[in-house]
Amino acid sequence: MTFSRIAGTGGYLPPRVVSNDWFAARLDTSDAWIRSRTGIVTRHFADESQTSSDLALEASRRALESAGVAASEVDLIVLATSTPDYVFPSAACLLQAKLGIKGCPAFDVQAVCSGFIYALAAADGFIKSGTARRALVVGAEVFSRLLDWKDRGTCVLFGDGAGAVLLAADSKPGIHASVLHADGSYAGLLSVPGNVSNGRIVGSPYLQMNGQGVFKFAVKALEEVARETVAAADMAIADVDWLVPHQANVRILDAAARRLGLPAEKLAITVDHHGNTSAASVPLALDEFVRAGKIRAGHHVLMQGVGGGFTWGATLATM
Ligand code: UT7
Repeated sequence: MTFSRIAGTGGYLPPRVVSNDWFAARLDTSDAWIRSRTGIVTRHFADESQTSSDLALEASRRALESAGVAASEVDLIVLATSTPDYVFPSAACLLQAKLGIKGCPAFDVQAVCSGFIYALAAADGFIKSGTARRALVVGAEVFSRLLDWKDRGTCVLFGDGAGAVLLAADSKPGIHASVLHADGSYAGLLSVPGNVSNGRIVGSPYLQMNGQGVFKFAVKALEEVARETVAAADMAIADVDWLVPHQANVRILDAAARRLGLPAEKLAITVDHHGNTSAASVPLALDEFVRAGKIRAGHHVLMQGVGGGFTWGATLATM
């Protein structure tokens, strides 16, 4: 039987670092409020000239390098983003061109903050079925482009960045199980309810959110999908070495880990210096903890996403 395994990771954060004080100088907010309610201290914002596929390119190069795989060997690209460069073509196709390769399938996945988990599950399916052997799976976002800088309830929460993994076919897992869910009846809790029509923006181009509604939903969803995924992998929560959840708010992450009975040492946290980078947050956190030598070969890593749609899901992988 063929499985898929994470053979390399990469991440990229644009150089501009923005502190909470930057917001406090413009809005009725404070460093103390943002830190205590979210755990966020700094986030990165892309330069105006940088697009999601630009950030994805840097993260992909690093993932390929760490896997020891050449771009020409990639036979599938799945890119999760809610902030693509264009309406079309997909950011995945633009990334493929920037990598200097052609021919392999390339497509975007739009599942907001669960996007990377959805993309990973899709690529895992391609590899297990024998359709691909080396897949580049990327989460890349320029969420700063969707923020209403006058809305203190949302603009302080997000950041830009990209993370990537090279998923390779292997005779042993690798990825043990993925569980995905969606419930569109919650669409109104978190959305950018606009589109482009007849040369105009129809609706709103800004992110809108019911913060407390999202908070409650996320804590419950993260706990439930962690239990489902571990069971699907025939493992127990105690077997998990690292929980790498979508980095939304440190209070959400702490609550989910506590409900699972996982100690704080097993929880990967990067939201303090990344903010919420939506589909990029899980692969960025994974890469940071791998490069720091904390997540190591043989570790069981439970990655989780939850976000707009609503969508949520998790993947359990042995590194
Ligand atoms: O990927 C998923 C994306 N979304 C999320 O993860 C968001 C999940 N939700 C949250 O993280 C939290 O709900 C927030 C951080 C957004 C808000 O924290 P909260 O503890 O739920 O605060 P709240 O919405 O109940 O607001 C409390 C007060 C309000 O003032 P009043 O009505 O009590 O006078 C807000 O207007 O805090 C006010 N407030 C702020 N004050 C200073 C909201 N944003 C700010 C701010 N600075 N940036």
